[in-house]
Amino acid sequence: MVLVSGSGTNLQALLDAASDDAYGATVVAVGADRDDIEGLARAERAGVPTFVERVGDHLDRDKWDERLAERIAGHRPDLVVSAGFMKILGPRVLAAFPVVNTHPALLPAFPGAHAVRDALAYGVRVTGCTVHLVDAGVDTGPVIAQEAVPVLEGDDEKSLHERIKTVERGLLVEMVGRMAREGWTTTGRTVRLGTTSGRTTK
Ligand code: GRF
Repeated sequence: MVLVSGSGTNLQALLDAASDDAYGATVVAVGADRDDIEGLARAERAGVPTFVERVGDHLDRDKWDERLAERIAGHRPDLVVSAGFMKILGPRVLAAFPVVNTHPALLPAFPGAHAVRDALAYGVRVTGCTVHLVDAGVDTGPVIAQEAVPVLEGDDEKSLHERIKTVERGLLVEMVGRMAREGWTTTGRTVRLGTTSGRTTK
């Protein structure tokens, strides 16, 4: 299942890929932390069940985490993909499911919510995207795959982010598909694909 907070173009790439049986994974549900976002509309158009859990509707983040874990569990996913989900996941969700995140920078450079802006402000010539497993930190989990994107003269945050997102969608689709088809194992900070068989990912 996929968690979103915004436009959901990464989600769309996963939905498109999953429409082919050979991909090996289906999107069983889409969850969000806010209403009225294109990501939810994309799920609805694809006929995928959706739910919304707003932090503000709960007493505190701990209660939100508890409820979010229940909502996710209701769909029995094998893998949770955080694709532009702009909240830090809590301990209950992380204990119950493997979670993959996509981040628009080459971690450990530029973690956090403003990765593209921060990379431009720093003046790097190369940035990119990272697909990684989520742990309790902010963008600190073991790296699954990374791809570089050059910063071009005249780039602003929007143009650079759009170029990164084009690469990011391809990398996320490829990695989620491989995890579903081939399985994976994590040893320390090393994620190896193709090491477990027979897992199916929803
Ligand atoms: C992606 O670049 C993601 O890494 C970042 O926000 C963007 C989400 O884009 N956190 P979308 O909602 O999938 O279009």
